[in-house]
Amino acid sequence: MDTDGDGHVDQEEYRTYRTGPSPPKDNNQITFAEDNASIAVELDSPTMSRTMSSGRESFELTMLEKKTFTIDFEFDSLSLTLKSDETKQVLSGVTGSIKSGRVTAIMGPSGAGKTTFLSTLSGKAYYGITEGNVKINGSIAQISDYKQVVGFVPQEDTMHRTMTVKENLDFYAQLRLPSSYTAEQRDQLVNETIHVLGIWDVHDIQVGDAETRGISGGQRKRVNIGMELVADPTVLFLDEPTSGLDSTSSFEVLEALKKVAGLGINIIVVLHQPQFRIFKMFDEVLLLGRSGRAARQCTSGRPWRRVCAGRGWAL
Ligand SMILES: Nc1ncnc2c1ncn2[C@@H]1O[C@H](COP(=O)(O)OP(=O)(O)OP(=O)(O)O)[C@@H](O)[C@H]1O
Ligand SMILES: [Mg+2]
Repeated sequence: MDTDGDGHVDQEEYRTYRTGPSPPKDNNQITFAEDNASIAVELDSPTMSRTMSSGRESFELTMLEKKTFTIDFEFDSLSLTLKSDETKQVLSGVTGSIKSGRVTAIMGPSGAGKTTFLSTLSGKAYYGITEGNVKINGSIAQISDYKQVVGFVPQEDTMHRTMTVKENLDFYAQLRLPSSYTAEQRDQLVNETIHVLGIWDVHDIQVGDAETRGISGGQRKRVNIGMELVADPTVLFLDEPTSGLDSTSSFEVLEALKKVAGLGINIIVVLHQPQFRIFKMFDEVLLLGRSGRAARQCTSGRPWRRVCAGRGWAL
């Protein structure tokens, strides 16, 4: 234990004896600790060596890289009026900001306009007239200019039920990735995505449906997310990825999203009634009022309670 031979065992020597050498201290390192699994993402060097261990296996992430290009949104008085009925405004005066590498939760009552907000911000609300300013990385811009790097995970599962998890992700990777990716790089990206989402155990199992038993509902949600992840997005919008799941599966989905955000990806997620342990995982919360009329934003993490309370919001 007394590794430096100075006659006494100091705190560091004792810790090393108990747990092995400590990793180099690095402000940029993000570590997610799970029960007996962890992912460490070292963000300091341009080459970014990253390893992931799940207790059973250890492998290096080479394709799922820390993003060098990230997207931050700022929106001011964002509104949407239906083209079919110009008297109907389904989103009204939403102001806030959404930053890369963070998980932003969009919450509010049913019919508040959460899905409408996602569609508007992701440039998919073709059925309406958008008003207000959207800034991307500080400049007024259209999200449609960034289509290639935006992923949208709809509420419904859209995968092929007769294919395995990996076959589904392979299929979407082939469909969506630029042709500059070699077959080996694509395969590596798909494998890494499966690991990050925590579904390697079922990678070769058929998704299945109501008649043919396959993977679980929570695993299916994560495959749904994976189908967008293999396209290598910079921003990921998700509409209720945990609806219909039990609390443990919901937590696993959020845990996976948190890891993805650690790569610098901007995660914007609509959620209903999250458990408190899930709520605590959000970095930002954007609250929509009825008819999308009011929006309030607060920063999560330790100070979120004070910030919300200071603004008079009861949470
Ligand atoms: N294309 C449309 N045509 C007519 N009404 C629309 C359209 N899109 C949205 N709305 C209306 O806008 C309101 C908000 O809808 P939205 O789907 O965004 O709510 P939500 O907050 O996602 O609700 P939920 O939590 O139930 O999914 C609803 O009253 C809806 O009827
Ligand atoms: Mg909705």
